Amino acid sequence: MRFDIISAIPELLTGPLDHSIIRRAKESGSVEIHIHDLRHYGKGRYRQIDDHPYGGSAGMVLMPEPLGTCIDALLLERSYDEIIYLTPDGHRYQQATANRLSLSQNLLLICGHYKGIDERIRQLYVTLEISIGDYVLSGGELPAMVLVDSVVRLIPGVLGDASSALSDSFQDGLLAPPVYTRPAEYKGVEVPDILRSGHQAKINQWLLDQSMQRTKDRRPDLLE
Ligand code: ADE
Repeated sequence: MRFDIISAIPELLTGPLDHSIIRRAKESGSVEIHIHDLRHYGKGRYRQIDDHPYGGSAGMVLMPEPLGTCIDALLLERSYDEIIYLTPDGHRYQQATANRLSLSQNLLLICGHYKGIDERIRQLYVTLEISIGDYVLSGGELPAMVLVDSVVRLIPGVLGDASSALSDSFQDGLLAPPVYTRPAEYKGVEVPDILRSGHQAKINQWLLDQSMQRTKDRRPDLLE
């Protein structure tokens, strides 16, 4: 699977994609991540990429030409399953979307900045607009990394334990149950006996009950 990410601040995207699971996924050839500096496609001597909005509101807008030129250059090389714009006014990101995107060959991510990108790029190129939550970040880079991380860990073979991704919160519409490891007692608090009973059917029932209870307490909206 291949990601192309267009960003005005590519430095923001390096660290988090170079460690742990994503790094291993890159090294094993499961995923390629290519970052494209929008500034390379800027206009004129100063490589301008943003301008004031029509209508006179505050902030700056990423101009259509640099973005369009960059996207056109990428489209000459390959087609994309989705061209995704990360934006707080997009559809709320959910596990189901991550699951679907993990079946893609090529994804193109566009990180916005300032007041966002010119609406015509959204009309002409973007196929999916995603918000990672109801709060505003200063750019699309952190959301892009959230998306990449959530998708890459679902690619078969990327997580060591194949069943691990399936037991995550949300995969069955419930929050995950509590987990424990050794020691059996820590600061006077014991691991629940049932988990050490060796009785797998009872353990599974207990885990499901815990998931239900946690979901009821913290995210009743998931049960509606
Ligand atoms: N860009 C700025 N805030 C964002 C958010 N919450 N989700 C996606 N992209 C964003």
